[in-house]
Amino acid sequence: MRLLVISLLALLAFPATALRAEGPEGLERLIAAWLESPHGNYNSPSFTYWNEQGQVPESCAMCHSETGFLDFLGVGGSTVGVVDHPGTINTVIGCASCHTAEAHALDAVTFPSGVEVAGLGSSATCMVCHQGRQSSDHVEARVAGKAEDEVSADLAFVNIHYAASAATMLGAEARPGYQYAGRSYAGRFMHVPGADTCVACHEPHSTQVESDGCLACHRGVESLRDIRSQHQDFAGTGDRSGGIHAEIVALHGQLLDAIRLYAAEVAGTPIAYVGRFPYFFADPTGTGTLPTELATRDNRYQNWTPRLLKAAYNYQVVAKDPGGYVHNPRYMLQILHDSLENLAEAVTLDISRIRRP
Ligand code: HEC
Ligand code: HEC
Ligand code: HEC
Ligand code: HEC
Ligand code: HEC
Repeated sequence: MRLLVISLLALLAFPATALRAEGPEGLERLIAAWLESPHGNYNSPSFTYWNEQGQVPESCAMCHSETGFLDFLGVGGSTVGVVDHPGTINTVIGCASCHTAEAHALDAVTFPSGVEVAGLGSSATCMVCHQGRQSSDHVEARVAGKAEDEVSADLAFVNIHYAASAATMLGAEARPGYQYAGRSYAGRFMHVPGADTCVACHEPHSTQVESDGCLACHRGVESLRDIRSQHQDFAGTGDRSGGIHAEIVALHGQLLDAIRLYAAEVAGTPIAYVGRFPYFFADPTGTGTLPTELATRDNRYQNWTPRLLKAAYNYQVVAKDPGGYVHNPRYMLQILHDSLENLAEAVTLDISRIRRP
């Protein structure tokens, strides 16, 4: 509660425009919504992970500590665009994170690929923290000069990190997925005016999406995941009855099977994916389902070849944005398709029925 009071004091220093029209009741509702949101969750690992260390390291603080974010924005005179000091533990994404003059003025964001995207308006703050930490360019740099199918001891898994929804939405403009040479990729998903920015869909305080507005256009579906406007059979299953989400999920499943086949046959050690750090593990059982005691750092997968790393990277990009089907369905389908197609150059896979949007 103490931290909230500090944040509210900072709020009083807002440019007045931020406090338009809302009466005291509106403000109360807004604060309640924020307190229940993931950004206001003091118990989340996102804000408590560093408590034993006592401070949030510079490389993590921008997104995991309000003081780190303010440091990044240059509030109080620090250098803009860099985090110079460790962040304070246990500070959530409070009112002051998004409501300083610096945050209100922010309009352009630089992504991990080095690309700067401008004209972001009130979604710019979202894009700073939801941009991920790696890009196609990072993967390319790691594998450069190495033979596609040779295991290399100096390769390690490259992890996009969590909830990189902003990078997903921008697609080829930001390059969050590994983009294979000679292919073109979908850029920003423009969707429709009124549902084309972070804060047009997500109420910024609760972070929730109001689905009634969506269903006014997307009629005849029960849940957002049933929405579909592209009707090709992308995953080649013969079943087109589900939403675009189902196509992505089906291709994602096929990609994991292909990664496992390639790891066993070409890289020489079976691989398993487990939804926790460091995600890809050596799999002595060869079944793909790893006993928990083997999902350890010591047992992390180490037989990486360039081809395997690219496909595994893309598998994780899709896994870590469960909203990818809304944020940029074409881009997600494209990187899955191309990963499968690339693995099929080295192992026997039937990819004759999958389609690329
Ligand atoms: C560009 C922003 C950004 C940076 C930099 C960043 N993270 Fe994160 N991280 C996130 C976001 C966003 C989430 C929340 C994902 C969610 O819960 O939806 C997250 C989640 C986490 C979680 C919580 C996972 C869970 O189980 O809920 C941990 C732990 C974490 N990050 C560790 C780190 C570490 C360690 C660093 C620094 C080496 C770091 N992060 C740097 C954006 C970032
Ligand atoms: C993650 C960023 C973020 C956080 C955290 C945040 N806000 Fe906001 N807030 C926004 C954005 C973005 C808008 C403008 C929405 C728009 O453009 O439609 C906004 C708008 C407002 C408004 C104007 C509302 C209206 O409907 O006109 C008030 C008041 C406000 N915020 C107060 C707060 C308070 C109080 C807190 C802390 C409890 C807070 N905000 C936390 C991003 C944030
Ligand atoms: C300073 C960094 C930061 C900013 C700015 C920020 N976020 Fe977040 N966001 C996070 C972190 C960290 C989490 C995870 C919080 C947790 O684990 O409780 C998160 C969680 C979320 C979630 C829930 C994800 C899930 O796993 O369910 C949504 C949705 C979200 N943010 C949307 C937004 C939007 C929209 C904006 C802009 C208005 C925004 N965020 C601005 C860091 C940020
Ligand atoms: C067209 C509306 C729309 C736009 C635009 C949009 N989102 Fe989302 N977002 C959603 C929906 C709907 C979900 C929930 C999807 C689901 O779980 O089925 C979601 C999920 C998320 C999540 C949670 C993913 C997770 O890890 O569970 C985050 C974080 C997020 N969005 C952030 C953003 C950010 C940041 C932006 C702007 C770059 C953005 N969104 C733009 C509709 C949208
Ligand atoms: C004004 C009408 C309208 C509204 C409101 C709207 N959409 Fe859409 N949506 C569309 C149109 C048109 C497309 C096709 C766009 C394209 O393919 O470029 C689309 C495409 C989509 C797709 C991709 C479907 C596919 O097969 O690729 C998803 C998912 C989606 N919308 C989700 C949402 C969500 C979630 C919301 C609410 C936050 C929403 N839409 C609000 C009109 C709308």
